[in-house]
Amino acid sequence: MNQRALGTSGLTVSSIGLGCMVMSSVYGPADPDQARATLTRALDLGITFWDTAEIYGNGANEELLAPMLAAHRDDITIATKFGFEPDGSVSAGPDQARRAIDGSLRRLGVDHIDLWYVHRVDPTLPIEETIGAMAEIVAAGKVRHLGLCEASSTTLRRAHATHPIAAVQSEWSLWSRDLESEVAPVARALGIGIVPYSPLGRGMLTGGLSSTADLAANDHRRSGPRFSAENFDHNRSIVERLQVAASARGCTAAQLALAWLLAQGEDVVPIPGTRSPDHLAANAEAARMVLERDEVDEIADLMQGFQGDRYGRPHAYGETPPQD
Ligand SMILES: NC(=O)c1ccc[n+]([C@@H]2O[C@H](COP(=O)([O-])OP(=O)(O)OC[C@H]3O[C@@H](n4cnc5c(N)ncnc54)[C@H](OP(=O)(O)O)[C@@H]3O)[C@@H](O)[C@H]2O)c1
Repeated sequence: MNQRALGTSGLTVSSIGLGCMVMSSVYGPADPDQARATLTRALDLGITFWDTAEIYGNGANEELLAPMLAAHRDDITIATKFGFEPDGSVSAGPDQARRAIDGSLRRLGVDHIDLWYVHRVDPTLPIEETIGAMAEIVAAGKVRHLGLCEASSTTLRRAHATHPIAAVQSEWSLWSRDLESEVAPVARALGIGIVPYSPLGRGMLTGGLSSTADLAANDHRRSGPRFSAENFDHNRSIVERLQVAASARGCTAAQLALAWLLAQGEDVVPIPGTRSPDHLAANAEAARMVLERDEVDEIADLMQGFQGDRYGRPHAYGETPPQD
């Protein structure tokens, strides 16, 4: 697995990361043994940039990673996040930061976090207060690098002026391209790496979902407008174009979706989520693919016209709509 530098932060990570949220039954049931097998496979494949959060499984997702970190700490770059209360509301002030960091360190069983994000910008506070508190925690040696999720370009600038920001993590994929107009250019101007979350459109871009009936009753995607009964079939028909293009290229739709993101720049590190060692291994192949500029544009042109907002009603697991 190749490595990529997250901007000019000095943090270098595997060019594809691993999103661990799905291992906490967010998109249907997750089996801990299968999750552990996936983590082991990730290490074997050199996918060593692992993404979790305090809110995923209310701490259980961090705990799931602890045994692997205990055995392979130096091989894994661990990223986690704080800022959600268990009920899904956003609360990301200095007190919450100081409380959260010790909980994350304990659950992960580590003495420092490599990359620590504020999961959502707290709309009730100046960002300088949040980042100022996080910077004190860096100074105390508990965290190496800082990041923000779903921040606007203005917030990103203000945050970076308070303390260097290594990465911005926001939704970015062939069906979610809002980031491209303002946030990505500002991140690049400031030397901040870009970590696209849900790079497979929460599974839709793999072509593996054929109807809303494929989603378990407690699957969080059921509340997503793009997965609603009105929009699902339409959106699925657009994904079929990606499947045709992938098939012509001799790869899968998931691989083409990831290769398209990787082709956006050397500072882009997607974090696809999976519970499956086989899906993980297939996704890893995307790092070997090279798309020419015209292919990148052609794929983007094919994938126009998705219906539905990115987010529906607010709830936990990083599903609360962006605040700014
Ligand atoms: N900062 C934030 O607010 C925020 C919000 C959402 C997510 N995230 C982060 O981003 C990570 C990834 O996002 P995500 O999990 O929402 O969505 P995603 O990576 O776009 O898609 C994950 C889904 O795709 C399926 N999948 C993956 N590879 C596949 C393959 N090769 N073939 C068929 N299906 C495949 C997975 O199912 P299987 O398990 O069956 O493979 C899973 O259901 C999360 O784990 C989390 O760390 C952050």
